[in-house]
Amino acid sequence: MEPIETQILTISSTNLSYATELLAAGQLVAFPTETVYGLGANATDGRAIARIFEAKGRPSFNPLISHGSSLSMLLPEAQFDDRALSLADKFWPGPLTMILPRKQSGHIADLACAGLSTVALRVPAHPVALDLIARAGVPIAAPSANQSGTLSPTTPHHVLSSLGGKIPLILAGGSTKYGLESTVVDLSGEEVVIVRAGAITAEDVSDCLECEVRYELEATDKPRSPGQLLRHYAPNKPLRLRAVDICPEEALLAFGSTKFMGLRGGGSTKDLSDDLKINLSEKGDLLEAAANLFSYLRILDESKASQIAVMDIPNVGIGIAINDRLKRAAAR
Ligand code: TXA
Ligand code: MG
Repeated sequence: MEPIETQILTISSTNLSYATELLAAGQLVAFPTETVYGLGANATDGRAIARIFEAKGRPSFNPLISHGSSLSMLLPEAQFDDRALSLADKFWPGPLTMILPRKQSGHIADLACAGLSTVALRVPAHPVALDLIARAGVPIAAPSANQSGTLSPTTPHHVLSSLGGKIPLILAGGSTKYGLESTVVDLSGEEVVIVRAGAITAEDVSDCLECEVRYELEATDKPRSPGQLLRHYAPNKPLRLRAVDICPEEALLAFGSTKFMGLRGGGSTKDLSDDLKINLSEKGDLLEAAANLFSYLRILDESKASQIAVMDIPNVGIGIAINDRLKRAAAR
């Protein structure tokens, strides 16, 4: 990634409209919330989401929280049951994130949900965050605005020292109130489970819903263990990586030019029917490939092929996260 100039701007109407323009153009904007500074991108734009992972230098894809300026902005994205509506009524805007079943008709990009059938949503309690998201008119995906594996930023200068040269804009809105990420409550099943602890406690949630609430804290920043709670999307069909040709009964997940890809036993990719080949990025653009990864895997997983041959993907930049996910899927 070529270094870019990072601007720090104070909060004004002019600067907020500039931030909105950047978001509309698929660029990243760091902004304050009441918990920590977030690294925001248009949640409906897969390529913009890919930039988040690239800027954070994350070696793997994890699902991100999508932020709304109001409950009504988020209603089209997930199935809100009575519990979710009660929690939204009581705690939004505020430091509570809900994991809910995704709506098929929703607009949030697959990459923001790491291909899962659930989505993480919250309405932050910070005037700058709310103004920015309302101006953007779409949910904004935002993990903490720091390099992967470093401390979460609570001031604009933390963001600058971690992501300077990697993002175009930091909106400077002072120190954050809590300095700790939001509580994450999983409402996608029958039980109510807190998977990340934050300012809102299990007791607070339990009092509101009048039901039992368990803690099952996930180890997000630790190595993934088989017992880890967060399930990751993986195709059912076996994957064959770094394929240089295609076997009978295989579908092709291509990257870049397929000129030199042949069918084992004779023929070229042109002889493969259209439902058995799809290209993550014909021009070999890793951001585009990342944005397409989960939905294209799903398409080939539903094809009549018995296995998926995946072309080599350069192991640089966001390619590392793409390969991480492919390797996990291939190892199953
Ligand atoms: O306070 C916060 O929540 C900050 C500010 C910027 O709003 N944001 C933040 O975002 O911490 P992020 O994307 O880093 O947090 C994602 C958390 C992780 O613990 C992740 O595993 C969980 O939410 N998560 C997201 N989607 C999920 C899903 N579909 N299922 C289970 N866990 C999910
Ligand atoms: Mg973080």
